[in-house]
This record gives sequence, C-alpha cells and structure tokens, in this order.
Amino acid sequence: MQKIKMENFQYNKGKLFIEGVSLIDIIEAVGTPFYCYSAAAIKQNYKTFKRALKNLDAEIFFSLKANSNVGVLATLARLGAGADIVSAGELTRALIAGFPPNKIVFSGVGKSRDELSQALSVGIKQFNVESESEMDLLSEIAKRRQIRAPVSIRVNPNVDARTHSKITTGTNENKFGVTMDDAKRLYAKGSKMNGVDTVGVAVHIGSQLTQLAPYRRAYKKISELVTFLKNEGYKVEGIDLGGGLGISYLDEIPPTPCEYGLMVEDVVGDLGCSIGFEPGRVIVGNAGLLVSQVIYVKEGNYRPFLIVDAAMNDLLRPALYDAYHEILPIKEAGLNISSVRYDVVGPICETSDTFGIDRTLPKMEEGDFIAFSNAGAYGAVMASTYNSRPLIPEVIVDGARFAIVAQKVCIEEFIKREKLPPWLEMQDEDMEANPG
Ligand code: LLP
Repeated sequence: MQKIKMENFQYNKGKLFIEGVSLIDIIEAVGTPFYCYSAAAIKQNYKTFKRALKNLDAEIFFSLKANSNVGVLATLARLGAGADIVSAGELTRALIAGFPPNKIVFSGVGKSRDELSQALSVGIKQFNVESESEMDLLSEIAKRRQIRAPVSIRVNPNVDARTHSKITTGTNENKFGVTMDDAKRLYAKGSKMNGVDTVGVAVHIGSQLTQLAPYRRAYKKISELVTFLKNEGYKVEGIDLGGGLGISYLDEIPPTPCEYGLMVEDVVGDLGCSIGFEPGRVIVGNAGLLVSQVIYVKEGNYRPFLIVDAAMNDLLRPALYDAYHEILPIKEAGLNISSVRYDVVGPICETSDTFGIDRTLPKMEEGDFIAFSNAGAYGAVMASTYNSRPLIPEVIVDGARFAIVAQKVCIEEFIKREKLPPWLEMQDEDMEANPG
C-alpha cells in the first residue's frame, strides 16, 4: 500500500479517502478540479501547535494568507485561535468566520489609510507596524478619533531563514520591518505619540523554515531588543514571533512544533512578555489536496506527458517556487499495474504550467484521477483566472460528511465586470459611417 505522508488521508480498498469519505464520492458531487481539506487534520495540527507552547503565555494567530476559506477559518476560530491578517479583505473574512476583533493582529508593509482605518474601527488587538510613515499615519487616524492604536514594531533582524529566496523576509535586502536601531527609535517615538500605544515588538523571518538555527538567531535579537527597551523604562507587553515553520513536501525534516516550542522557551521564555505566533502552513498545509483528472496522456520525446485539468492558475507553487507536491493516484495501483514516469502538466499555455517532471505513477489512463498532496496552504488563496479559467470549488471533510465551502466561480461571472469602452459601443449605422 502506498504510504501517504499526510495523516487523515489513506487508501481504503484501493481508493483514496480523506477521513471517512472516498474522494471518488466528492469527485462525483463536484467534478474536478477542486481543493479538499480535512477538518480533523486542521484541528489536530492546531492542537499540536498549541500543546507545544503550553509552558508559555502564548497566543496563536492563524495566518489567513495560507488559507482564508471561511469554512476553514471558522473551524479554527471555534478552537479559540486568533487571526493574523494582511489586508482589509482578510479582516472581513476573519470577522465573518467568527474571530473576535481582540484576537486579530494586522501585519504587512503596505497597509493603506482605509485599511488602517477599518481595522481601528473594529478594535483589533494589534497593528504590526513596519515603517515610521505607517506609525505616523496610524497615529494621525487614531488621534482624530481620540483613541490609541495598539502597536508592535516589526523588526527586520537581518537573519537568513535558509529557505527559498522568494519567501525570505528577514534580511537587509527585504522590504519587511525596520532595523534594530530604527526599532529602538520608533519605540521611543511611539511611546510619546498620542495616537499609538506601543505594546511590543514583532518579527517574521520567512516561510517554510526547516531549521531552528535561524529562528534562534532572530529571537535572540528580539530578546536583546526587549531587554534594552525595558531597561530604558518602556513597557513591552508582548512579542510576536511570526510564523514560518515548515512542513515536509518531499524529504525535508522540519523541526516539530514541540522542538520549536522548546527553543522559544529557551530563548525568550523569561522575558516576562506574552508571546504571539502566526503559523499558517504548519496548520493547514498537510490538511489539503488538489484533486484533478487526467485529460490526455500524450507521448513526449523524453517521457509521456500527463495533461491534467488543474493548472498553475489553481496551484501556483510549482511554477512560482519550483515547489514539490507529491502526486497521488486516487485509485491505488494494484499489484499487477506497471509504473510509468510522467511529466505532469496543466493545460495553460506556458511551460511553467508543470506540476512535476519525471514522476513515477501507476500507469494512467485518460479519465483517471490524481491528487496533489500538501496543497492546503498557499493553494486556493493564490489561485487566479489566468487563461480565463474558473476559480475551482473547495470542499471540507469532517468525519463521514463533506461540504462545499467555496463554489466554483464560472468565468462568465468575471466577464460580467468587464464592458466595452463607450467608443466601441457604436451602432451598426455609425460603424458604416465611421469605419475603423
Ligand atoms: N506572519 C507573517 C508576517 C507572514 O508574512 C507570513 C507568511 C506568516 C506569518 C505565515 O507563514 P507560514 O507559517 O505560513 O510559513 N506563498 C508562499 C508562502 C508565503 C508566505 C508569506 N508570509 C508559499 O507558497 O510557499
């Protein structure tokens, strides 16, 4: 039997199941392609992460950017999770899903006036401020309303997270946060401003981290900063340590939440601050699949192409980061089925629409189904309608039941937003009089 690295996903009598539901049943109900999440896996991952921090005064803010489906969010909100947002859109989603405003933190380098204003109206827990201009603007808006905005200063510790360069955020070249020196200056400035209340410092050095050492280095710098600020007489109630813990897509062995928690305890456990965490991928990454159908098997010069009905617009990670997602057959290979090495590609008209090169799979026929594993994080949220393809449905399974938590959005819906410019709306007679 093929071993699947994702819990709650297993073969049963030759068919791939997600918890108690056969994917074939969902395929029959919604058609391919679609995303499918396991509620049990999401809950389990959240609880494991929470348990790993049990010795700390910890608060978990799930990072919505990893998966912002309201069905997924509500599952986490019911467990008591908070939310880490980066836009007014994510704020709206967080509120709809039931996260209390005082459990929402707002990150991001480019929060607009409107976004700051909306989040202030709602009364969120904290703004992770990333520049002096942002703090000035936030203070101005809050002062006008005679309130104070709770502010954490996001520090860029100049530590290489040793992950993909496109998802590294904590080095000097990156746009995120402010330098250690600026953090001290801004903290002092903020403490005197009428519109802000400086409550802490924040850091996030990157995503899909597979080693503890960069974290340790960054958190040490945070510890030094907090000690400095406290010695200067400033109040530092909380530190926000960001997200970033990796998962295993291929053969990575990332630290477990428990190992991560112990490291945190060791480095910042005695600062006397509450500690916020913003995990995304580690909560939902291994809780989701992208299910797809083989449209054609086409001979290639090197290997046959498996042309499937999902594409880079549905799952962008392989095209953007050369990311690896294991490909699982929905029907388990029988003992007498030979295996074949395929290049697995989507229908989009560019070569980056490639899910996997030289992947060994049981011999596939046109019409067969496959699933891309570990697609619960940064999957559906990064989808687009490139090549005028629809947005695909999302389904969540809970035990023996499943529900569609996002409808397919047909391309006609998108075309409705568009119209001809008035000068092209001319009547036929005008066209004759005015050709060209
Ligand atoms: N907090 C902040 C401030 C962040 O920027 C991020 C991710 C997180 C938390 C959550 O990080 P996580 O625990 O999920 O690693 N699209 C890329 C990942 C981009 C991550 C951006 N920031 C991917 O598909 O790998």
